[in-house]
Amino acid sequence: MPATAEIAERISTISVSSTMKVSADADRLRREGADVVDFGAGEPDFPTPSNIKQAAIDAITTNFTKYTNTGGTPELREAICERHRLDFGTNYTPSECMVTVGGKHAIFNLVQALVNPGDEVIIPVPYWVTYKDVVNYAGGRCVFVETDESTGFEVTAARIERHITPRTKLLIINSPSNPSGAVLSQEEFLKIFEVTSKRDVFLMTDECYCQFLYEGTPFSIAAAPRAKETVLVAGSLSKTYSMTGWRIGFALAPAPIIGAMMKLQSHSTSNPTSISQKAGIEAMRGPQDSVPVMLAEYRRRRDFVVDRLRQIPGVTIVTPKGAFYAYPNIGLAFQSGRVKNSLEFSTELLAKKQVAVVPGEAFGTNNHVRISYATSMSELERGLERIDQFIDELDA
Ligand SMILES: Cc1ncc(COP(=O)(O)O)c(C=O)c1O
Repeated sequence: MPATAEIAERISTISVSSTMKVSADADRLRREGADVVDFGAGEPDFPTPSNIKQAAIDAITTNFTKYTNTGGTPELREAICERHRLDFGTNYTPSECMVTVGGKHAIFNLVQALVNPGDEVIIPVPYWVTYKDVVNYAGGRCVFVETDESTGFEVTAARIERHITPRTKLLIINSPSNPSGAVLSQEEFLKIFEVTSKRDVFLMTDECYCQFLYEGTPFSIAAAPRAKETVLVAGSLSKTYSMTGWRIGFALAPAPIIGAMMKLQSHSTSNPTSISQKAGIEAMRGPQDSVPVMLAEYRRRRDFVVDRLRQIPGVTIVTPKGAFYAYPNIGLAFQSGRVKNSLEFSTELLAKKQVAVVPGEAFGTNNHVRISYATSMSELERGLERIDQFIDELDA
């Protein structure tokens, strides 16, 4: 019997993460000797701050290398609650907090702990790839809510309310957004929370990019009065502290939900790596000055990328207000007839110009590609020049 026939059905409800696929394709080309410019990876190019690295080295030398509590050490949970309180004015306690193996794991655990087969989960478009797959894996039904490019891809409470039914269990909001860089105003976010709490719908806020905001002050909807009853925070140290490889994320949620997630985690990964947890404590409690340094550099790159993209005939772009992605509309290039959609555009761009971008269809829109500007200025200059040439040659 072919091995594929043996694969469990639930695996067919999910697909390979397209962002990871782009990175793998770019890597393969690079190994074959191609001069690839990689705009695919959503990964800070800064080193992890040295105080955080030192905490991990100390953890090893003092033999902090054994199992810990499944949901993280009490010290780290305390530190996460404290950081969230200092940054956003929330008042979580360690029993409402758990540490996970990256932010993605917090989202996975939350969705698996809450969503029953047939439950509806509202997801604004464009969305981060993983939401759809983790909901499908739980047997839930994704209900996509379109946003308008003309209003900066910002979802509204009114639009969300129209999609709530008696089966709606959860709404997932990611602000700043991967891939569009859209940021919800505090006012609209509050209206969304009012709608979900009134209708007994949980609101998961993915705060992965919460510190990378180009206008205004970072805030958490979890600080709103009575938010703790229905708001679920998925957090991550990956981007804020340039710690993608350390795999530390967290969830803040009502204690019974944390208990359910903990049960699941106890039978899958157990605790996140003990050494990374020590690094996480330093990230939470140590100096925070690396964050504004990174933000200033991202802003410089964002301004360059947006200006350069706008110089390419036919390309339009909504100025990202947060995170480190640009999401240009390249739909006019389809008129050439040489590429028909964002997947063909990205595939041809990689083949002809060795520039890796992620096709918009991975995020639920077809006229866009995602460019990560978490890479050096010189790479941005080279890559955008090649994209300009590519589009020009399509029209020739
Ligand atoms: C929107 C969003 N949420 C969560 C994550 C999870 O990051 P990690 O699992 O590295 O903490 C990512 C990573 O790319 C992301 O873009």
